[in-house]
Amino acid sequence: MFFRVSEGGNSLKRIGVLTSGGDSPGMNAAIRAVVRKAIYHDIEVYGIYYGYAGLIAGDIKKMELGSVGDIIHRGGTMLYTARCEEFKTLEGQQKGIEQLKKFGIEGLVVIGGDGSFQGAQKLTGHGFPTIGVPGTIDNDIPGTDFTIGFDTALNTVIDAIDKIRDTATSHERTYIIEVMGRHAGDLALWAGLADGAETILIPEADYDFDQITYRLKRGQERGKKHSIIIVAEGVGSGMEFGQRLKEATNMETRVTVLGHIQRGGSPTGADRVLASRLGAKAVDLLLEGKSGVTVGIQQNKLVYHDIDEALSKKHTVDLDMYTLSQELSI
Ligand code: F6P
Repeated sequence: MFFRVSEGGNSLKRIGVLTSGGDSPGMNAAIRAVVRKAIYHDIEVYGIYYGYAGLIAGDIKKMELGSVGDIIHRGGTMLYTARCEEFKTLEGQQKGIEQLKKFGIEGLVVIGGDGSFQGAQKLTGHGFPTIGVPGTIDNDIPGTDFTIGFDTALNTVIDAIDKIRDTATSHERTYIIEVMGRHAGDLALWAGLADGAETILIPEADYDFDQITYRLKRGQERGKKHSIIIVAEGVGSGMEFGQRLKEATNMETRVTVLGHIQRGGSPTGADRVLASRLGAKAVDLLLEGKSGVTVGIQQNKLVYHDIDEALSKKHTVDLDMYTLSQELSI
């Protein structure tokens, strides 16, 4: 085994890593990259279990090279995760910092979505070196083209829609499929474009209900066997939309809410590679003495941005892709 002790006197001796918020496929690959890259640089790594809740409780254990063996292909997170209200309070943050000091941890890598980054921002504000790694299926973090888990979730949604499409054709029905994404429409848009959906509803774009029913009827008249409508959860309930559509058109409709199936499964190659690159980059940045930044990928280049900037900007969906989806589903 070849270890590299950083030249120029790396003073960092021990770092921590945690996952927080909703899990996403590829988080394990990111944890592995953090642990292995740190050990490669002769830095000890401590795993913090159950996100910020575990940090407050001191649920912290030393990790070795073998701790992250055989996880690169597994969904979920071996460090478990939680949403923690207490860490939003000053008292909770202070308890967390005391635990970090107690374990001699000098820098922290936080893997998660924007709620997790808010915690990282607080730690940075208290002077604790922290780096954010974007892990969420929602793809809603500004400063990165892709978040860890988005590609896997996208493929899970596509697989589900392909199956629904088979039965939709057999029964000549209209299917409404509600997908996750919180306030962002990325998952719905990418899946809809990849699956040739007739209509995609995303929170970033208004829709005209009459236009949707008109297009559905026109499709039926020219012999279409089925229609697929994707509703991003940020738009509202797929069930309610399905009911409204049924009442307005008298068409036979069915609604599928894909739910948490979208968060599980073995990460795709793209997510494993992205997670490995971003996790390792986070360690590099800590070694360079950086704090309060989030890593990301833009045009296939690793980048980093100030965490305040990442949290203050609004995520934008690619509206050209939305227009294209409409043009291709005439
Ligand atoms: O942020 C990931 C996500 O799966 C969102 O798409 C969804 O809105 C939310 O988490 C669901 O959260 P929970 O698992 O707490 O119900």
